Amino acid sequence: MSACPFHSRHDAGAPAMPPLLDPALRMRPPGEPLPAPLREHGGPLAEVFARWLRQRDDAAHAAEKSALTRALMALSEDDIRAHARRQAAIAMRGGWGHWHWAVPAATVASLLGWAVDDVDAQRRLHQDLRAMAAGLGAQADGEDVRAAGEAVAALLNGLDDAERRSPDAPLQWTLLRHAPAARWSDRAAFTANRLGLIWQSHEAGAALLGHALIEMRGSACAPTREDLLRLARDGGAVRITKRFDGRETPAKPVTVPLSGTDHPFGDGQHRCPGQGLALSSAHAALVWLGEQAGLRWPLPAEPMVLPNMDIPQFQDHPDQEYRS
Ligand code: HEM
Repeated sequence: MSACPFHSRHDAGAPAMPPLLDPALRMRPPGEPLPAPLREHGGPLAEVFARWLRQRDDAAHAAEKSALTRALMALSEDDIRAHARRQAAIAMRGGWGHWHWAVPAATVASLLGWAVDDVDAQRRLHQDLRAMAAGLGAQADGEDVRAAGEAVAALLNGLDDAERRSPDAPLQWTLLRHAPAARWSDRAAFTANRLGLIWQSHEAGAALLGHALIEMRGSACAPTREDLLRLARDGGAVRITKRFDGRETPAKPVTVPLSGTDHPFGDGQHRCPGQGLALSSAHAALVWLGEQAGLRWPLPAEPMVLPNMDIPQFQDHPDQEYRS
């Protein structure tokens, strides 16, 4: 019997499912929750990676993600602005090579009650996040994964301390209220994803702030939140993401564009829950910059090129001095 002509005509004309909405496209290949270096060497980085919402499509993802999203949405704009401005001012003492890298992650850490009170504290946070980045690299060796594990352990301890000392810090408070440990599979999932907020802000935030700084150089005119969204859309943040097509064996990697689309912060189940926080904090930090009289704008250097984004780099003027 031949195939139904109406059916096949209908199938041929059906619009393709947008990849980020397609349930067959998964964050990890089936049966491989960890990338090879973490599978081989294990440790604290592997423990948090396996629990990050960003890496999971299990049945608990939707409920845990919506609790986390509620916590992020409950942050007040005033708190975001105040913490971002303070971290922007502290970071300026570290020079232009430090500023756009430090501000996003230090703002999230500070909203969580972490005492990021000087440029050294920002640098320590930055070093731990770079150690994590090295451990997550496709070519990471045993030493990279070990050093990343040490960094993860230090950051998890720091966040537990912040919870004890400052349970009323803005983001710690909204997390404890809307996404407390009891709402997660276990406390380890809660603490891994609390650290995940700082991690997720780190490279994408530096890329967005860095591209904004390039546009702002010279004019001192801070971009609006809409300008920042346009920048992200035009490739100034995360340009692509990856999925695995579990219908094929082995699962086929699929590259999905984000820049040039109307959803530079992703779409579907894994859409970024930090978009509002990222835009508001970047905007507040750049407004703070625009208010500084007599600022000498940075000299652009070779960008850091990652598979999914370019992170601009900057140099200070040779005779520039900062108070630290
Ligand atoms: C405060 C800053 C940020 C926080 C707390 C944050 C948090 C997160 C989290 C938790 C996820 C995983 C969600 C899930 O898989 O269910 C995520 C995904 C994502 N974030 Fe963010 N993020 C931040 C900044 C940014 C920035 C600046 C960008 C740049 C455009 C960005 C782009 C994305 C994208 C594209 C995804 C989805 C990735 C995918 O579907 O493959 N995020 N974010």
